[in-house]
This record gives sequence, structure tokens and C-alpha cells, in this order.
Amino acid sequence: MANIPEHVLRDYERLKDELNQHNHRYYVLDDPSVPDSEYDRQMRLLQDLEEQYPDLISADSPSQRVGGEALSSFTQVRHTVAMLSLDNAFSAAELEDFERKIKDRLNYGALSDNPEIDYVCEPKLDGVAVSLLYESGLLVRGATRGDGAVGEDITANVRTINSIPLKLRGANIPRLLEVRGEIYLPRGGFAAINAAAIVAGDKTFVNPRNAAAGSLRQLDSKITASRPLEMCAYSVGQFEADLVPDTHLLMLEALADWGFKINEHVQLVSGIPDCEEYYERLAGLRDGLAYDIDGIVYKVNDLKLQQRLGFVAKAPRWAIARKFPAQEEMTQLLDVEFQVGRTGAVTPVARLQPVFVGGVTVSNATLHNGDEIERLGICIGDTVIIRRAGDVIPQIAKVVLEKRPADAQPIVFPERCPVCRSSIKRVEGEAVARCSGGLFCGAQIKQAIKHFASRKAMDIDGLGDKLVDLLVDQGVIFSVADLYELKTEQLTGLERLADKSAANLVAAIDASKQTSLAKFLYSLGIREVGEATGQTLANNFGSLEAVIAADLEQLLEVDDIGPVVAKHIVDFFRNPDNLSIIQALREAGVSWPDIDQNAQASQPLKGQTWVLTGGMEIMSRAEAKDRLQAMGAKVAGSVSAKTAQVVAGPGAGSKLSKAQSLDIPVMDEAEFIAFLAEAD
Ligand code: IVH
Repeated sequence: MANIPEHVLRDYERLKDELNQHNHRYYVLDDPSVPDSEYDRQMRLLQDLEEQYPDLISADSPSQRVGGEALSSFTQVRHTVAMLSLDNAFSAAELEDFERKIKDRLNYGALSDNPEIDYVCEPKLDGVAVSLLYESGLLVRGATRGDGAVGEDITANVRTINSIPLKLRGANIPRLLEVRGEIYLPRGGFAAINAAAIVAGDKTFVNPRNAAAGSLRQLDSKITASRPLEMCAYSVGQFEADLVPDTHLLMLEALADWGFKINEHVQLVSGIPDCEEYYERLAGLRDGLAYDIDGIVYKVNDLKLQQRLGFVAKAPRWAIARKFPAQEEMTQLLDVEFQVGRTGAVTPVARLQPVFVGGVTVSNATLHNGDEIERLGICIGDTVIIRRAGDVIPQIAKVVLEKRPADAQPIVFPERCPVCRSSIKRVEGEAVARCSGGLFCGAQIKQAIKHFASRKAMDIDGLGDKLVDLLVDQGVIFSVADLYELKTEQLTGLERLADKSAANLVAAIDASKQTSLAKFLYSLGIREVGEATGQTLANNFGSLEAVIAADLEQLLEVDDIGPVVAKHIVDFFRNPDNLSIIQALREAGVSWPDIDQNAQASQPLKGQTWVLTGGMEIMSRAEAKDRLQAMGAKVAGSVSAKTAQVVAGPGAGSKLSKAQSLDIPVMDEAEFIAFLAEAD
């Protein structure tokens, strides 16, 4: 470094520190301190310096996270402290058993005034175990668990993971620190990787754990760098330091101070009943988490007690994993049916041997389209892996080819609509096949009417799916406009409809005539125009006439309306059949109050994103959302640094804690209602 000027060295160290600091705020604390543009600017300055003075480049430079030269193989690493696994408990009784054995071993039974044992409860992250070695605060090696005694050196790959510090932060840095933790892929990243694989025609991963393992097994660390992996620390292997914490929780706190991410739900409890309560609480939060967990790990908090308890075979006596019900199960594909939707899309639906997975019994799963059938290489009779994690609909993740029966039948995509026999067409470049029957197709008419009558659209009470099927099948109605011509006498003749419900239905249809422009636009069933887009159109154009008259250019000027939606809107209103249905609806008396142009102009929450979480007791969630959208706010499903305000009701969980950690203002329902009243 002899010929590097002193001021360059100083600038370089300062830039490195600042970038590492931004990185920590962004990836570990989820609380960015500077905009992305500022981070990029500093990174470019750092890279310029490194280009000018290559001798500067050190292993802890944030520029080194992008991956480097590919390896030809991984070298082996012998773990100085073995990487153990955990025993499992599958019931509350087994957990009590675990504590009884601990108490026996510690001679607890003899002393009646002993306090409860303290446990640290941690989510069992469903990823890949890793060991990270730091010498004098610098990351020198990353290794997989392997068989617990010998793993593989994946240093180049772990360096690309942004939540892993390249250099420890803060004070009291140990001389030697081996951090153990889990590398995992959040569900969002997993979905994105699989979506990209589908586009590229590549194989997809069955679950986030396999995707994380596959990403770490890459010899080319640039591939690992492209995967949004995260790492949470959960324990320590080798440790040489002046200060040694007394408890596991203090050790986790020290790890957090040194720059590691610690799971947000880690909690200290006393006694097994509180462990059980934690399990129940986390089981309730599981679907809403951003990552997969497959259970809870309980660890005796006192490190001296841990030492006294020691190990049996390959697992410690002081920790246990309580497993959740599985999110993946095997079952059999019994048949495939083809359903026709509102826009004519023909969707293959898998009929499955019912199976309990992710907390529900699954007997159907969508196969999406013909490409998906081809990609999975699936046949009727096959054994398949069903995955249901989070709130997402169950997916067929994989076909178990080894179990394919000799009489497995290939799935043939029909050429004609199973409902109206019109031909099925596939537009170049689109995955979806559509029935060309349009409003001649009974299936499309039925879906259009069901959508029109649904709660968030025209909200016609009593017009359920079965009744719509009956009315269309019997030729009583052919379009949504016919609903408003219905007479009680026509309905009373129908099977299963009592006089009273016929009269109620006619009254409900009549009541639905008073609506709002936003709901009316949504109820028309224009492709890709959901509730929020209906509201956006109403807010921006103010009248139905203005929406109908809008051309592509005017639509594209509206925030949140992209070229695809804009094209669907223009196409819809250019179709004379649609215009005549709209005219008939208007003549039947469907109407809405004019939008107050002043209120529209003022839109006090324009540009803000709000999040509603937890229960609402006075106002319905749908109404709260409508009111916010009418004031110009976007209502989002997850909290981020960009969230302006969170409304949290009883039972709010991870979204509330995230808002609190990001310092985002939170109000309860009463405060929200007062806020609306003031804004009125
Ligand atoms: S503690 C001796 N804590 O579960 C203690 N493990 O069989 C060993 N895991 O492969 C591990 N989350 O990768 C611990 N909070 C957590 C964990 C966790 C996930 C994984 C770990 C290991 C397996 C245990």
C-alpha cells in the first residue's frame, strides 16, 4: 500500500464503513437510513477507488458481495465444535417429557422451591444450517453443516449474502467467533426465482429450503449473489473472548450488536406452559410470516445449565424442536377437469385424493395452463407433492416419477370449450387458452353475472352461484342487464326458491341500483380491473362518460394504470355489446352519486400507502379500505419503510411489530374512525 496517498486510504475506509452501515440498516434491521440512490452513489465512488488502486481491495469491502471467479469444487472443512441436530417433540406431552428429563438430571425434583426453568423460544427456520468463522472480527470462512463433523467450504457464497457481516461491528469483538445460523430464502424471493425459472423454461424448486440449498451449492458465487438469501444467527460454536455472556439470550443480543440478524420472534419464557403458549401464538402467525418455519426450538437459557446438561448422541439435552404440521404432502392425481372462467380462460383443475396439508384438506389444485402441465410432465394417476405454505393456494410442486403407475394417462388439453363447444384459442405469447364463444358461452355468462352480483361489486344479496347457474341454464337471463327485468312470478316457479326469497331477491336487485361509480366499473368485469383500479378510474375521471371516452394515452397518464390494463379498458368500451349492456343498466335505473370534483381534487391521502392489520370491531375492513382509497391512499398488504400509517386492531401480529421497529405511526380503530370523521 506504499504508493497509496494517505487521504485515499482515509476516504476508502470511510466509504467502506458507511456502506457497511447502510447495508446493516437495510438488510439486518429492515430500516434503511439513506435512499437507494445515495447507496449506489457511494458504491460507485468505492468501486472507482478500487479500480484506481486495486491494492486497496479487502475481503470486507462491500464491493465483494457480487460474487467472483467460479470454483471447480468445494473443499472440505472439519468442524472444531461439532454441528449438532435437534431432537423433535410432536406433542405437548413430549415437551413435558423433555423438561422432566432435564429436571431429573439437574436433581430439580428434590428441591421444591426451585424456580421455573427459563427457555428461549425461537422459530425453527426452514433453510440450511451454516457456520461462519470470524477472526479478530473479519469473516474468514463459511461452511455447511455436512454430516455435523465435516462440511463444505462455501466462503465465496456466504460473502454474497447481505445480512451476513463481512466485518463485525461494535465493541468487545471476540478474538475468535464461530456463528451458527440458518440461511433461508423468504417466500417472496422463492416465488420470484421460480417465476423466472418458468419463463426461462428451467426446472423450478419444490420449496424455499431446496431453493436455498441449491443456491448455496453453486460453484459460481455470482449465481448465489443473484438469489435474495437471508441469514439469521441462532447460536455460537467456537468462541474466544474476554467477555462471555451467562445466557443464550445475552449471547443473541451480543450477536445482534456485532451486526447479525436475529429472528424477530425470539422470546424468553419461564416453564413449559409458557412454551406451549408461544407455540400456539406462532402457529397462528405462521401463515403470515415472510419465510417458512417448520416448528419452534426451545433452548435452556442459562449457559451453565446447558453445559451441565450436555449431549446425547448427536443432539443436546438442553434444546428441543417442537414441529408444526407439514406444509408438503404426497397424494395422487385422480383426474383433470377444464373450467371456463369469466374471460373465457380455460383452466385445468387437478382433482386430488384428499390430503391434509398446511392445516387444510386439499382435494383440488389449479394446474394453471397447458405450459404448466407440460413443465410438470404430469399424468393422471401420478403421485404428486402438494405444497401449501402461507395463505397461498395449494400448488402441485412436483411429480414423483418413481411412483408413476403403468396405466398413467397423459393429460390432453381440449380443442373445444367443454361448455359451449366453441373452439379454444391461444394467443401467441400468452400462456392462457380461451374459449372463443364470448357471451354465447354459458360458462362466461354465468361467471360475468356472479362477479357482477358479488359483495364487492353490485352486492346483490341472495343471488348465489347456484341460483345464477339455474337462471342461465333455464334461459331466464342472458346478461347482467336482464337481472333488472326479473319479476317475482318468474322466480317463484323455480325449484327450491320460496315465494318469500323470490320477493327478497327482487328487492335486493332493486336496492343494488344505488351504487358508486367505482363499484359499477369493477362490476363490469373488465379484464384486470379489480376493486382498486375501479376506484382509481372513478377518482381520476369522475364520470362514466369520461372513462368510456378515455383513450390509451389518457389512461396511461393515471398512476397505477399500465399498458396492459389500459388496453383492456379501451377494448372493453369499444365493444358495442358491452355498451348496449351498460345502456340497459342505466335505463333500468342503476345510478351513483356524482363525484364531488372538489373532494376529488383535494384527495388528502394521495401518494400515501396505508396498511390495515388485525381485527376491526366497529367498521368492516372493506369499508375502511374504501374510505382510504376514496381519500387517495393506496392500501397495501405488507409493511415497509414506505408505509405512511398502520391501523392495527386486536390480534395484530408481525405487521404491527414490523411497523413499530420501523417507527411507522400506528393508530387503533377508534383513532382511525376519529381521523375519518375529522377528514369528512
Ligand atoms: S439450534 C445444538 N435454532 O434445525 C443446536 N436450529 O436439527 C442446534 N434450525 O439443521 C441447532 N432454526 O439448521 C437451532 N432457531 C434455531 C433453528 C435451528 C432452524 C435448524 C438447524 C438444524 C436443525 C436442527
